[in-house]
This record gives sequence, C-alpha cells and structure tokens, in this order.
Amino acid sequence: SQDQENIGNVRKQLAKLFETSLRTTVPEESDVEPLVAACTAKFGDYQCNNAMSLWPRIKGKKTEFRGPPAVGQALMKNLPSSEMVEACSVAGPGFVNVTLSKNWIAKNIQKMLIDGIETCAPGLSVKRVVVDFSSPNIAKEMHVGHLRSTIIGDTLARMLEFSNVEVLRRNHVGDWGTQFGMLIEFLFEKFPDWENAGDTAIGDLQAFYKASKQKFDEDPVFKERAQKAVVRLQGGEPRYRSAWTQICDISRREFDGVYQRLGVSLEEKGESFYNPYIPSVLEKLSELGLVEESEGAHVIFVEGFERPVIVVKKDGGYNYASTDLAALWYRLNIEKAEWIIYVTDVGQSEHFQMFFKAAKRAGWLPDDDKAYPRTNHVGFGLVLGEDGKRFRTRSTEVVRLADLLDEAKARSKAALIERGKDKEWSEEDLDKIAEAVGYGAVKYADLKNNRTTNYTFNFDQMLNDKGNTAVYLLYAHARMCSIIRKSGKDIEELKKTGSIALNHPDERALGLHLLQFGETVEEACTNLLPNVLCEYLYNLSENFTKFYSNCQVVGSAEETSRLLLCEATAVVMRKCFHLLGIVPVHKL
Ligand code: ARG
Repeated sequence: SQDQENIGNVRKQLAKLFETSLRTTVPEESDVEPLVAACTAKFGDYQCNNAMSLWPRIKGKKTEFRGPPAVGQALMKNLPSSEMVEACSVAGPGFVNVTLSKNWIAKNIQKMLIDGIETCAPGLSVKRVVVDFSSPNIAKEMHVGHLRSTIIGDTLARMLEFSNVEVLRRNHVGDWGTQFGMLIEFLFEKFPDWENAGDTAIGDLQAFYKASKQKFDEDPVFKERAQKAVVRLQGGEPRYRSAWTQICDISRREFDGVYQRLGVSLEEKGESFYNPYIPSVLEKLSELGLVEESEGAHVIFVEGFERPVIVVKKDGGYNYASTDLAALWYRLNIEKAEWIIYVTDVGQSEHFQMFFKAAKRAGWLPDDDKAYPRTNHVGFGLVLGEDGKRFRTRSTEVVRLADLLDEAKARSKAALIERGKDKEWSEEDLDKIAEAVGYGAVKYADLKNNRTTNYTFNFDQMLNDKGNTAVYLLYAHARMCSIIRKSGKDIEELKKTGSIALNHPDERALGLHLLQFGETVEEACTNLLPNVLCEYLYNLSENFTKFYSNCQVVGSAEETSRLLLCEATAVVMRKCFHLLGIVPVHKL
C-alpha cells in the first residue's frame, strides 16, 4: 500500500513488523491483529500489547510459553530486523517496548524536507467523501452553531483532502420550507415593485424575516395567503419562483461573505435541489415495504425508537427527513460517495440516527458501522456565553457572525498596535495579519475542544498570547521563521547539503514528534476529531520550546542540523495551521 512509499503512519509501519512476528510466533492465531500504540518516553516510543490478550487463547495449547511475558519475549525475538528499530525490551506483564532508531527518524525528516510534507500524508482507503457542513437556513439567522459546523466541517474536509481523498464539500442550506410562503407574500405586500427594485428592497433579511413572521402570527388572512403561496411556489409558478430566487440570493451573498472571510469553500446543494428526487426515492422505499401509514402520515419504523421517521406529513408535504433520505440516495447513487459526514449540533443526533437506520433497513448502508458505504453524524456542543447560557449578544439577539468576526479582527489589531506593529508594517499588512490572528483565534478556540462538549466563547481567552491559543502558536511559528532568517543561512541550500543528527534527548523528542504528524492526521480524520490535531500542534510547540531552550542553534557546532530541525518544525506547524484553516504568519 501507500505506507511503503510514504513516511505516513509510523505506528502502522511498526504494526506491520509485529504482524509478521505474530504470524511466526503464533501461526494458528491467524486472525489476531497487531496492537501497537505510541507510549511514554520512559519505556520506549511505541508498545505492542498483544501478549496479554493472546495468552488466554493459547494457554494450554502452546506449552512452550509459560505466561504472557514469555509471549512478549517471543514476539520481540521474531520481530523482523528493520532499520527503523533501534532497541526492544519486554516489560511488566508482556508489553514489547520499541525504541525507534534516531538515524531513521532523522533520515525521514530530511526526506520530508526535500520531498515535501505531502510525503507524510496518510493513505486512507476511501476515495470519495461528502462532507455536509455549515448548512444555514435561508432568511433565518446564520448563528454560532453554523459557525461551529463551518469550522469543524472545513477542517475535516481539509484533512481528508490532504489524505488524497476526493471531498465533495456540500452546503445543505435550508432553502425549501413553509417559511417561504410567508416571506414571499410579505415581499409582494411591502415591496410591490420588488422585481425592479433589485434585491436592495429587502435590505436586512433578518429584520424582514422577523416582520413577516410577526404578520403571519397576527394576521389570519395573511397567514392563509402565505400557506397558499407555499403551494404556488412548489407548483413552480414563475412569479413565486423568482421571488424565492431573489430571497435566496440575498442570504447567499451574506453567507458567502462569511465563508470568504474564513477561507472556506463550499458547494451549495440546498434542500430544494433534492426536492425533485423525493417522490421516486420514497417510491423505492415503499416497494421495499418500508413505508407504512400511521395517523395519516407516511412513516418508516426503525429499531430502537418508539416514534417512526415521518417521510410524508399528514398534509401531504415533505419534511427534513424526506429531504435527507433523497439526499442520501443521491449521494450514494449519483455522486458515488463512500462516506457521508454530516456536521451539525448534537441536538440533531436523533434525526440522523433514525434516518441512518431507515437507510440500513433499505439496504443502502451495511449493518456494520465501520464498513463502507458509511455515514457519520459529527455532532457538536453549544457555544456558551460567560453566563453559562447559550451565547448571545447583550440585546439577547443571536450573535451575527459578521459582527463577531469584526470584533475578533479589531481586538487582534489593537493588540498588534499595542506592540508597536503599526510603526513597522503598512496598514494593509496590519489588517491582513489582524485577520489571520483574529479569525485563527476564533477557529482554534472552537477546534481545540472535544467537539461534543459545550465551550465558552471568550475573546480575552482566545486572544491571549500565552497558553493553548492560536495566538501563542502563531507566535511560536513566527519565532522559528525568525531564527532561520537571522542565521543568515540559505535554508534551501542546507536542505540539499546538510544533514540532521538527533543526539540531544530534546532533539530526538522533537524529531519523533515531527514524524508522528501523519498518524495524527489519520487518527483525527478517521475518528472525526479535530481536537486531536490541535493537541498535536500544541505539543509540537512545547517540544520545540524545550529543544530551543536546551540546545543552542545559531553559532553551535550542530548549527546546520539544528536549523534544519527548526525548518522541519515550521513546515509541520504550517501544515497543521493549514489543516485547521488558520493562515500562518511569518513575522509577528
Ligand atoms: N439546515 C440545518 C440546520 O440549520 C442543517 C442541515 C444539516 N444537513 C443535513 N443534511 N441535514 O440545522
């Protein structure tokens, strides 16, 4: 596979060696897979844990072994010789500890420097993945929940893309629902000249939504008209259709503004896109005998839930679930995606669990959750304010994302000015860097937490230049760049002519951590946990700090090697930033 060519996944390379050893040591147990994990420096770099779980299976059968430690000894003895391994030992109940060769580590870092960070990319077995993320609702507020979805979804997409997977970045916007009847009628009433006024007529769409909702709730005649308007829109009447288009365009422009600022690319395939597919998809499900009638609605019952998935409402209309079933069918059969990842708040997890089960009943998805084609709901927790409640602005309104990004930028700009950067840089650079730092801080504060937990939004904390923040990490990276710059050496030349030696323990620790980049990305994207990459990045900067305070770089006998190590760290850091959607800065 790819692992042979690439530096990729060190853990897996080692696991392959142990697999060979297992086949020699216990040939009868051919289904046993190697269990290899990174471990604490005290015992070695990696550990193989097979001996303990193997023991009960072979006890009494293979009398040459007198206990798990002996199995460990045999696993160690039968390990094929490899340049990657320096030393092995068996500890405690039978762990096999492996210390990697520091020359091998050094050689691979040099290879990465010369051939590029892509050589560290993990090799995943899937080819095409849909990431369904951001997905705000037209005319309604794009709120912090959608910001989380945008940030988390983007980083998952970036990690998969880095792993050479084709990613379809899908914005499943809510552009098709009963709210449009109300909005369209309100448009007709308030702006009779809407067709000529262009989309400036509506102005602020949120205010427009609020006003029309108020009228809908208060005026029964308007309400009835709005309900009829939905039918006329869905029937394709041109005037209704074009009003709908105009409303969607306004929202879209607002969303795009946020995406552009965040550097996120997305392809919109909203709910309306899948609407024409719903009847035939439901037909297929009916033919399979899955759709039943219940209390006037059409439903699919699924195991483990008392209430069924409603696919056609009592009034004959379709809903969120019918759209999602049609979208799933489309993604599997037309787009031929093997893995479909949905990023929304955890509040929607029941919806996803239920319609995934319906898809399993239909045979669209295998019963085994690990097998492909596969779906995953990536749920995340709430964004909280300082008061521990849902994050809102003072006016108790939901937070507008554009305002939030403005504030992040303004605050980081103020901090840069305080450091006197306005005297050093042009206004343009100051703005650019304030954006990189401000938006980066917002993203990192979100991504560093395990996504399933709620987190508290706090500008002071996320913009702190100490601690586990983007600001701290961006400074650490800029410092590396400055060390290299100030050395006066041509780093491109050094890459070609110099070599790395890892004789000091802090050099070795940094080197090993650099080499674990690939397996970290693989873990973060296969387990759908961006915080794993954040933790890696933070530890990388800690390892670097330790190295830099204990090993003199410029002017030392090891200068070349150490400059190369600085450069390698900067390269890996930049890739981490890139995967997290953060723009690295070379000077800060
Ligand atoms: N529009 C939905 C919301 O704002 C999210 C859609 C997520 N994607 C999906 N295929 N259901 O909550």
